[in-house]
Amino acid sequence: MATNRGLFSRNFKKTFPIAVRGEGCWIIDESGRRFLDASGQAAVVSIGHGVQEIGLAMAEQSSQIAFAHTSQFHTAQAEKLAERLLAIAPPNFRKGGRVYFTSGGSEATETAIKLVCQYHLESGQKNRYRVLSRRQSYHGSTLGAMSVSGNVARRAPYEPLIPDWGHIAPCFCYHCPFEKTFPQCELACADDLQTHLDGGKKEDAAAFILEPVVGATLGAAVPPDGYVSRIAEICRKNGILLIADEIMTGMGRTGKPFAVQHWGIEPDLILVGKGVASGYAPLGAVLVSARVVEAFERGSGAFMHGFTYQAHPVCTAAGNAVLDYLESQKLFDRVAPAGKNLRDALSSLLSHPHVGDVRGLGLLLGVEFVKDKSTREPFPKSENIAEKIRQACLDEHVLTYPTQGCVDGLRGDHILLAPPFTISPEESALIPRALHSALARVFPA
Ligand SMILES: Cc1ncc(COP(=O)(O)O)c(C=O)c1O
Repeated sequence: MATNRGLFSRNFKKTFPIAVRGEGCWIIDESGRRFLDASGQAAVVSIGHGVQEIGLAMAEQSSQIAFAHTSQFHTAQAEKLAERLLAIAPPNFRKGGRVYFTSGGSEATETAIKLVCQYHLESGQKNRYRVLSRRQSYHGSTLGAMSVSGNVARRAPYEPLIPDWGHIAPCFCYHCPFEKTFPQCELACADDLQTHLDGGKKEDAAAFILEPVVGATLGAAVPPDGYVSRIAEICRKNGILLIADEIMTGMGRTGKPFAVQHWGIEPDLILVGKGVASGYAPLGAVLVSARVVEAFERGSGAFMHGFTYQAHPVCTAAGNAVLDYLESQKLFDRVAPAGKNLRDALSSLLSHPHVGDVRGLGLLLGVEFVKDKSTREPFPKSENIAEKIRQACLDEHVLTYPTQGCVDGLRGDHILLAPPFTISPEESALIPRALHSALARVFPA
């Protein structure tokens, strides 16, 4: 039975089924209906639902010591997870890097904003505080994170509360903001960062933040080769730090531990969340590279920031157990073949007149619906196509993650697909099947 009791829910006009159990790629509700979790619950669940070892590891830690404040103690779980994350990060994190644990992605973004500001203070550059970002991006829902997000709809109600530190063009080939085509575009969207810096007060820029593959806002938009390295180069040249928001793309989701590793770049900070504990506990982290750590070590030695629940022992125990599982089951290696398999199957959707694009990397995939395929014109927002597709897929017992606004912040309909890495070929085949039948219902002949 669907319900909406007690909770200040995300949408008062909707009712929600009650989830009672998870098994692998499936979520079961209280009336026994089984749903294929093709979205990984917003690209969170990587190892699948209901893995007993994780709960046992959390219970074990909780029975030993459930909480110790980080101003007084460290715990073995947190230190161990920090070292393990640094070991799979790019080379500039491995020796001398450190990890700041949070309770989720938005807290990681907040932490990074303050961290880059203090980094510049520690390095004697008192004026650098502006964190630049891109239009059509999402970095979290707290006010600092919203300030750097370029998601029009999510920012709109709070505009008076959030500063605009500067947004450059998105990197989105399917709807190129410069109406150009790669490679003739010569990466105009990356050079927009330099143009922005040249056009403003360069001296107060502290950092640039980007999602290596843009998740919710653009539906798994992958940058062309050369984009991420050009951005990294511009950051270095202008003395600003590069923050890779890997809250959605990190921990294996795109086929490598961190998506930046596809292009061999070394950001200064990497943000993780979601997959770092695969949904078993609220956990996020900021991976801090050696160069940034050194500035704090040489300087004040203390970061003016903190959360009561940072580096929580039970949450970091969950993180360690999830990483054990990813490693023992070789799940990092499953993403590329499972992603290819799903993407190949999804490409059959492209024969439909309203499926404009199938895109993504690894198991972070997007399907965009357009009104006119030849012009890539979106549907009017009021038609609510992404939500209609989600509902029709739900009727087929397949869970997807719909968003509107990929074209201009308001128009543009896509769904995100990000199933657990454990998805089998048989389960994968159910996703395009559900989408074909959803399309037939949303767009009757
Ligand atoms: C790229 C990115 N950054 C930040 C966040 C915010 O993370 P959280 O919802 O855990 O606060 C999200 C969440 O969707 C995200 O996708």
